[in-house]
Amino acid sequence: MIAEIQKKIKDVSGFSTNDSKELEKFRIEYLGKKGHISTYFAQFKKVQDSEKKEYGLAINELKKVTLKKLEDLKKSINPLDKFNLVNEDLTRPASAIELGSRHPISIIRDKIIDIFYKIGFNISEGPEMEDDWHNFTALNLPEHHPARDMQDTFFINKNPDLLLRTHTSSVQIRHMENNEPPIRTISPGRVYRNEDVSARSHCFFHQIEGLYIDKNVSFADLKQTLLFFTKELFGNSKIRLRPSYFPFTEPSAEVDIYWGLNSETDYKITKGTGWLEIMGCGMVDPNVLENCKIDPNEYSGFAFGMGIERIAMLLYQIEDIRILYENDVRFINQFKGSV
Ligand code: DAH
Repeated sequence: MIAEIQKKIKDVSGFSTNDSKELEKFRIEYLGKKGHISTYFAQFKKVQDSEKKEYGLAINELKKVTLKKLEDLKKSINPLDKFNLVNEDLTRPASAIELGSRHPISIIRDKIIDIFYKIGFNISEGPEMEDDWHNFTALNLPEHHPARDMQDTFFINKNPDLLLRTHTSSVQIRHMENNEPPIRTISPGRVYRNEDVSARSHCFFHQIEGLYIDKNVSFADLKQTLLFFTKELFGNSKIRLRPSYFPFTEPSAEVDIYWGLNSETDYKITKGTGWLEIMGCGMVDPNVLENCKIDPNEYSGFAFGMGIERIAMLLYQIEDIRILYENDVRFINQFKGSV
């Protein structure tokens, strides 16, 4: 019997074909349920004890040689098998590559930057951890000034004083300290306020600050700049400026755009007036210029500041600010293709 197995080993080694059907026949003949190999295994118990070892080694060898032969012939019949391809159709379309989407805050921030860039504004940034001077004092908000209560601050350290900036107006100061007029700059960035999180407000959000300092800058320049901006961003040419108060500007104003009253939502978001507030602005207070070593007798300027979330929520009709920070792909994916 061992001699018979040895012969089968020789047969297998000498076997060759380039026909896959024939190869399958060979497989069944040797490795099938009733094939040679399982038959030899079944006969193992009938073999005399003295021969068992040699017999076992022989059928294992036969099995090994057969499996190897089978694999080699498979590869030579279908050369692609050696790449272990699951699907052999090389002409089939590739699976689509998932593209990511930009976050609505980034989309709106970049749109705003592009608009001001076109009219000569550069971009400046400052730290999110600020000192009292840049966030408050230099902006005409001395200690104990009641206007400090307008902004609930996260304080980090008392001495040296360190806090999370409550607005991007701090970058105005840094920019004026480090640059000579004429200045035209916008400063996008994240700001923090110690406020309860709700559908309308969050403890951090984003702002864009604008600053223009030169000789003979007037309120009319401010108005025209903002009109250009609102036309570009909202396609809307109707704005109004309402008198307001900010410690760092004099006079100060709040800017409303005419949103219209075309739908029920328009009524809701404009409280029935058709007007929407989008930013604060004003002529830079002479004290602020002096704090930055700019002579207010020679130079004047305007500043403005707006919340990016607010504008994104208006343009994309997002009702709850919190969804902007949840990273839910079902939300983010809706901005695919927007740049
Ligand atoms: N910093 C103000 C805020 O956070 C926004 C602002 C108002 C900025 C008027 C300005 C400005 O530059 O002139 O509410």
